[in-house]
Amino acid sequence: TLPIRIAPSVLAADFAKLGQEVKDVTEAGADWIHLDVMDGHFVPNISFGADVIKALRPYTTATFDCHLMISPADPYLEAFAKAGCDRITVHAEAGVHLHRSLQTIRHLGKKVGVTLNPATPLSVLENVLDDIDLILIMSVNPGFGGQKFIPAMADKIRSAKSLIGDRPIELEVDGGVSVETAPLITASGANVLVAGSAIFKGESVDAYRQTVGDLRAA
Ligand code: DX5
Ligand code: ZN
Repeated sequence: TLPIRIAPSVLAADFAKLGQEVKDVTEAGADWIHLDVMDGHFVPNISFGADVIKALRPYTTATFDCHLMISPADPYLEAFAKAGCDRITVHAEAGVHLHRSLQTIRHLGKKVGVTLNPATPLSVLENVLDDIDLILIMSVNPGFGGQKFIPAMADKIRSAKSLIGDRPIELEVDGGVSVETAPLITASGANVLVAGSAIFKGESVDAYRQTVGDLRAA
């Protein structure tokens, strides 16, 4: 079984000092840095793109876990790979040729992820299970941090876990992850926890460290 990994989402960090935030959260024990890319088209919000990620790369050696909420994704995959993303996750809903997107990420030499909006059934993954390294279950509607975990997603996480079987696929959950919801999420079978507001509401590196530790313990 795969280790528990804590992936702070810098969407909730102070954008005016993003480099320092990435450094601080790494020092606080983050395993992965979760990077939420939003285009104002696939989701109703705009965040940052490949050039910002490239600028952040020197601030940490932690894995860059890139969550692309953009449509189309294919024309930009190479730019995100070159910017220093180690893992690239695309939405199954973002295009009609999911398999091609996954193949492109693989050919770029990066870890391949697929994510599903809350209403999208797991069945879209059945024919790509041997082409992916990670499944990301969205437990809020993507676009904004600070939303509440959708309770029905606990069953979806459990089903995803059984769909994965004994494949070495990371099972990540994003949205409304907190010290309160983490026990249910990990008990349901997830091993990667994305947390934005829960971590960055803290006012210091010590506060970040406390929450990262609490999430891991939960
Ligand atoms: C939502 C993003 C999340 C978000 C999570 O569209 O994909 O990564 O930052 O934020 P919290 O942890 O505050 O729900
Ligand atoms: Zn995300």
